[in-house]
Amino acid sequence: MQELNGQSRIKSKTFGRKASRMRPAEREALQLHLESLRVPDDELINERTFGRSGPLFVEIGFGNGEFLYDMALRHPEANFVGIEVFITGVAKLIRRMCQYNNENTPSPQNIRILIKDGEGALRENFMDNTISGVFILFPDPWPKKRHHKRRLIKPGFIQLLYQRLRPGGTLLIVTDHDGYAEEIGRILEASPLVKGDQQIPPSALNTKYAQRAISEGRTPFIFNYQKPSSAANQPVIEPSHKGSTDQTIQESIDEPKETAERRDGITRVY
Ligand SMILES: C[S@@+](CC[C@H](N)C(=O)[O-])C[C@H]1O[C@@H](n2cnc3c(N)ncnc32)[C@H](O)[C@@H]1O
Repeated sequence: MQELNGQSRIKSKTFGRKASRMRPAEREALQLHLESLRVPDDELINERTFGRSGPLFVEIGFGNGEFLYDMALRHPEANFVGIEVFITGVAKLIRRMCQYNNENTPSPQNIRILIKDGEGALRENFMDNTISGVFILFPDPWPKKRHHKRRLIKPGFIQLLYQRLRPGGTLLIVTDHDGYAEEIGRILEASPLVKGDQQIPPSALNTKYAQRAISEGRTPFIFNYQKPSSAANQPVIEPSHKGSTDQTIQESIDEPKETAERRDGITRVY
């Protein structure tokens, strides 16, 4: 882990900041509630994760969690896993779940959080043919050519995601970046996924990044795909686990001394 400008960062290829300065209430929300919501780094996600069965939906890169929260409220019968690497976004989701009062128990209770790289999480925490739907809204576009290799959506990632989807399982990707949209389109067309007919949840176009795109006059591209219902269940590839990030997450939650001294109440939202 590096300390840069007083903020904690973890080196990574596919994502940038792990944390920005947090408000005290956000830090407290993490300290009080993260343990009960978080899926341990090496846990296989199944019915025990939620204490009940139900269709499993996953959002990768949930940002501040507006969409995940809305979907979990609207679909109490389903189980939702939010995957995010940006700990300040995790704190904002938990604040939302507590109705902005940390004394409240977070709700709805069908949300669990994985603080992990999306591809690693798919590989290590999910079994084949178990996910009913994956949402990826405004993935970081990494616009510079030399950074394209950092993009989340690559052929190998989509192949892995295909395996983890159950037959008929859906994939929704939204981006407002022309170049990334072209690349995503090519990758999906070359994949075993087929065009889907799921209804686009209105809140997918109501996230922070969706609102920014729309207010700046960019029309989001929507990719609506699914695993064919007829897809035969493939041989299960056992998830493999590659070491825990628990320590680095705790370091991100613990208030850096410098931040505590310079606390100014300003949180830059990514
Ligand atoms: C451009 S933001 C979009 C956030 C949110 N989906 C929205 O629409 O407002 C991209 C988010 O994806 C997260 N992210 C980027 N790479 C990731 C990865 N490899 N695994 C999980 N999350 C990732 C970032 O931390 C960031 O919160």
